[in-house]
Amino acid sequence: MSALLPVLSARITSAAEAVFGTPYDPELRSATKPEFGHYQTNLALRIANELEQPPREVAARLVEAVRLDDLCEQPAIAGPGFINLTLLPRTLAKAVNEPETFSSNGQRVVVDYSQPNVAKQMHVGHLRSTVIGDALCNVLAFAGYDVIRQNHVGDWGTQYGMMIEQLLEEDIAAESLDLEGLQHLYERSRKHFDADGNFADKARLRVVALQSGDPETRAMWRHMVDVSLDDFDKVYALLGTGLKRTDVVGESAYNDDLPQVVKELDEQGLLTESEGALCAFLPGFQGRDGSPLPVIVRKSDGGFGYSATDLAAVRHRVNTLHADRIVYVVDHRQALHFDMIFTLARTAGWLDVPAEHVSFGTVLGPNGKPFKTREGGTVKLVDLLNSAVERAGSVDRESTARAVGIGAVKYADLSSDRGNDYVFDLDRMVAMTGNTGPYLQYAHARLTRLLSKAGPVTEVTQLAEPAEKRLALLLTGFAGTVEQVAETLQPHRLCTYLYDVASALSVFYEQCPVLSSEGDTRASRLALCAATRKVLQDGLGLLGIEAPDAM
Ligand code: ARG
Repeated sequence: MSALLPVLSARITSAAEAVFGTPYDPELRSATKPEFGHYQTNLALRIANELEQPPREVAARLVEAVRLDDLCEQPAIAGPGFINLTLLPRTLAKAVNEPETFSSNGQRVVVDYSQPNVAKQMHVGHLRSTVIGDALCNVLAFAGYDVIRQNHVGDWGTQYGMMIEQLLEEDIAAESLDLEGLQHLYERSRKHFDADGNFADKARLRVVALQSGDPETRAMWRHMVDVSLDDFDKVYALLGTGLKRTDVVGESAYNDDLPQVVKELDEQGLLTESEGALCAFLPGFQGRDGSPLPVIVRKSDGGFGYSATDLAAVRHRVNTLHADRIVYVVDHRQALHFDMIFTLARTAGWLDVPAEHVSFGTVLGPNGKPFKTREGGTVKLVDLLNSAVERAGSVDRESTARAVGIGAVKYADLSSDRGNDYVFDLDRMVAMTGNTGPYLQYAHARLTRLLSKAGPVTEVTQLAEPAEKRLALLLTGFAGTVEQVAETLQPHRLCTYLYDVASALSVFYEQCPVLSSEGDTRASRLALCAATRKVLQDGLGLLGIEAPDAM
């Protein structure tokens, strides 16, 4: 069966057209209270003015004209002119038995996420991008998009000139360094660069050698990149992300396109020279003091920076990957950067599809400040994840500890509005009560156990008790929720939905015995449990969270 809401909406729309000559959208909403039925529309109130008729009269004419008796009880007119709809139990049962699925929507979406930087450890910011990006990729694919993942790794720029020069000076073989070694090398080379002009000049020449493809320089750089990617893969494996090595298309991948980017912008008269750098000044972008803000396309030393690479990436995504939509999962501090890149790319005629910055807030420590180690350093993502698994290990069997610990961290990240900051609080994350990952995982595991005792599952045939109706109604909202997340790119809506389902399930358990009931009631309730289990399993799966069968 197709989704309920669109069917109900379409019926009301055609009634409105028949009576008033306009196919109004009823904008059906879930009823705010059970006594108002299941859905509600304020259409009569919205159009009463325009029609110059009292709202309740408009509602009455609509109700008179609409044909819903095969799906709903007689519509009720409430208060100043709301129309309330209550589904027939058999309509609900059918919708639960035949859940809606999506077919391809023919659209391709490119999702840019995770994006750690070479020669540095991944930190909690990369955790957020990876977790949110994964969930969005899963949801978009489920909703019918063809999803292309792009891990825009930071693997290019002037710092590699310094690091390679430092290696050569210290006479260290690039092959001998692991990620930690690289990080220390970076710190030493940075100090050296700042203190010694001679070294700085050599480092700059080395960048030119790197960017123009000098084999020896490239080999050393390649080694640094590979060491880093190997390390990222270890974190990805622990996290259980959908990202693969083949999704890595780092900043360096666009090197050869950069001169063309400059050339085309220049031909369009979009570049201005400013203190030796080539800049684009866009109307409406100003600093706090009112001075115009530049997009620096080529730096004064001739090198290309972060912005140039992002412009080339936009072109690649539109022209080569044929994106119909581009999504960037990057923290909120880069909002202005993306605003300017998108504006410039549109001005240059390179971007003619929606590009969205999926921005997110900061992970805070217990003190409410950005998360740091006691010494003030960045917290390594691996350490954090390992401690979550350890914490979960004390409440669960060992085999599920990873699923629960990682699931808890992911769910905590996804369940609050991504624009907000949140405090990284492991105790709260792994709690078995409240809106947490383990609570949902437990609801799923308990259903699995119940169903394993019950024998074959048939269909939902009766929905008599309010608690079973409420649960059934919620289950019919799964596809609509997924669609909403695909549109708004807000995973917390799916979390809230799943939490509502799990909460309705626990009321159902209290009020409706399953295994101890008999005959058709037992069979129907079992089928309702099976449908609930599937929604929890699919929903957690879309969030990138495992649903163990036992815990
Ligand atoms: N590597 C960057 C960072 O860690 C994020 C890259 C975001 N993606 C992009 N296309 N600019 O801040």
